[in-house]
Amino acid sequence: MSGLIPREFINELLVRVDIVDFIDSHLPLKKTGANFFARCPFHTEKSPSFSVNRSKQMFHCFGCGASGNAIGFLMDFNHLDFVEAVEDLAAFVGVDVPREAASASYQSESKKQDLSQIYSVMEQVAAFYVQQLRLSVEAVDYLKGRGISGTVARDFMLGYAPTHWRPLLERFDTKALTDCGLLGSNDNGEVYGRFRGRLMFPIRDKRGRIVGFGGRVLDDSLPKYLNSPETPLFSKGKEVYGLYELLAKNAKPQRILIVEGYMDVVALAQFGVHTAVAVLGTAASRAHLDLLFRFTSELVFCFDGDSAGQTAAWRVMESVFSSLKDGKSCRIMMLPIQHDPDSLIREQGLERFTECIETALPLSDYFFEHFTQALNLAELEGRAQLVSQAKPYLETLPESVFKEMMIARLKELSALSTLDVSENMPVLDQKQNRQQRPAQGRLPLQRRTLALLIQHPELIAIIKQREIDWTCLKFEGVEKFTSILQTILHEKPANTGALLEYYRSHEDKRIIDLLSDLQLGIPEGGEAADLSGTLDKLIEKPIKAEYRRLLAKLETAGLTPQEKEQLQKLLSLKVNYK
Ligand code: UTP
Ligand code: MN
Repeated sequence: MSGLIPREFINELLVRVDIVDFIDSHLPLKKTGANFFARCPFHTEKSPSFSVNRSKQMFHCFGCGASGNAIGFLMDFNHLDFVEAVEDLAAFVGVDVPREAASASYQSESKKQDLSQIYSVMEQVAAFYVQQLRLSVEAVDYLKGRGISGTVARDFMLGYAPTHWRPLLERFDTKALTDCGLLGSNDNGEVYGRFRGRLMFPIRDKRGRIVGFGGRVLDDSLPKYLNSPETPLFSKGKEVYGLYELLAKNAKPQRILIVEGYMDVVALAQFGVHTAVAVLGTAASRAHLDLLFRFTSELVFCFDGDSAGQTAAWRVMESVFSSLKDGKSCRIMMLPIQHDPDSLIREQGLERFTECIETALPLSDYFFEHFTQALNLAELEGRAQLVSQAKPYLETLPESVFKEMMIARLKELSALSTLDVSENMPVLDQKQNRQQRPAQGRLPLQRRTLALLIQHPELIAIIKQREIDWTCLKFEGVEKFTSILQTILHEKPANTGALLEYYRSHEDKRIIDLLSDLQLGIPEGGEAADLSGTLDKLIEKPIKAEYRRLLAKLETAGLTPQEKEQLQKLLSLKVNYK
C-alpha cells in the first residue's frame, strides 16, 4: 500500500481514461458544440455552466471557475484525497496502482513503520476496548446512567480502557502501541498505558479508519477527557469526531452541526439527530471547515450561551469569515445558558432542539448583531463606529455575491450611500459573460503562446522545429515563459489534463489553470497556424528592438566584442529586419 505512485503511471492513467465518459458516469452530460455540459456539481446553479472538453481532457465551470482533470474531479466530487482518487480512477479503468519504494531520505526511522499496520493495530485495540466494556459493570452502568443505548454504543464503537493496562502490552507490540499514541512514558523512561479506567471514543476519519481516541473518566477526576497525541495518523486540527458515523447515516446531509463534546455527538445520535460532529478540544479551524464543507453547504455552530460561549462564537466567526464562499453558509446557535446539546436535548426533547437549530442566526445576522448590540444606530456616532468596526472584516471576504450583500447591508445600517470598500459589483456580470467572451486581441503575445501550448500540448512540435534561441529574447515574464515551455517539451503531456497533473502542487499552478481555461476564439483546426503567427510576432518584436539598439550603438559608441557576437547571432536568424 505505501510508497509513492510512479508519475508515469498517473500519466498513463490520464491517457487511458476518457474524461467525458468518466464524468458522464458520475454526472450525466449533454453535448453542446464541442463541449459536454451539466449543471455544476460544485456550486448551485439553474443553467448548466459546467463543461467537459474531450480534447483537453479537462473540466471547467464558467460559473464558479472550478477546473481540473479526471483526478481533480474525483477528489472534489467524491471528497477524496489524491491517492484515493488515483486508486478509484485506476479501479474505473481496471488496473492496479503500482508503488515505488519510498526514497531513502523519505524513510525516516518513525516513518518506516507501515501506516497500514498502525491502522490495523488501532482497529484491534478499539475492538479490545469494546470487549473490555462488556466486561466492566462500572463502565456499562455509566453509559446507562447517561442514557446511551447498546445500539448507539455499537454505532460509535464505544469501549472501555481498563485501569490495568498491562493486558494491552501482552497483546500488542510495544513499538506499535507507541506509534499509535497509546503509551506514555514517565521521567524514568518507564512506559505506561495512556488511557486507564476511561470510557473510550474511537475517532474515525471520513473513510472509517480509526486514527485516534478520546477517553473520559467515569467519575469527577481530572482531566475529564484525554485525547490521543499527534501521531502519523492523527492531527486534532484536521479531524472531527463523528463524521464517519454521520456520513454512514446520510452521505449528503443538508447541514452539519458542530458541537464541542464527544458526549454531545453521541447523545444527539441517541435522540435521532445524526448530523453532529465535534471538534476535538480545539476551536474549529479552516481545515475543519474545508473538510465539512465538502459534505454539506451549511454548518451550524453550537455554543453555550454563557460569556465563554459568546467569546468562542465570535472567535469562530473571525476564523471562518474570510473563507466563506458563495453557496456555503454558516449559522450560529446559542444554547440556553448552562446547557450543552446533550443536556438540552435530554431536558427539552428533540422537537425543542430542532427548533433551536432552525432558528439559529445566519452568520451575517450574527455578525451585524454583534456590533449593533453595543451601538446606538440612531446616532451618527454609533453608525460611524459600526462602519469602522465592521468594514475591516468585510474587506477580508473573497470576491462574491455574499460580500456584495454584506456591503449593501452595512450601507443600509449605517445609512451611508457610499462605502470605501473594494467593491466588486461586476462579479456577477463577469461570471455570466466569461463563457462567451473570447480573449481580447490585447492579450500579450507570450500569454497567447502559452495558452495555445497548454491547451494543445502537441503543438510543442512547432516550437521544436523552429529551434528558437530564447536566450536572445527579452520580454516581460520570459523566465516563467521558458520554464513552462521547458516543462511541456520535457514532459510531453498527452493533453491539457495531463499537464494540469504535473502542476498540481506547483507554484505556477494558478497560471496554468488560468491559461488552460482561456477562450482564444480560434476556429477549430486553426491552432497551429495561429501559434506560428503568434510566435513570429513574439520573437520578431524583441529581436528587432535589440537589432536596432545594437545598430544605433555601433554607429555612435561602437560595440563590445560580446555585442558584436550578439549582433551576428541576430543577423543569422531568419528575421526580416526591414
Ligand atoms: P466538556 O467538559 O464540555 O465535555 O468538554 P462534555 O462533552 O460536555 O462531556 P460530559 O458531558 O461532561 O461528558 C467538551 C470537550 O472538550 C474536550 C473534549 O473534546 C470534550 O468532549 N475536553 C474537555 C478535553 O479535551 N479535555 C478535558 O479535560 C475536557
Ligand atoms: Mn456535557
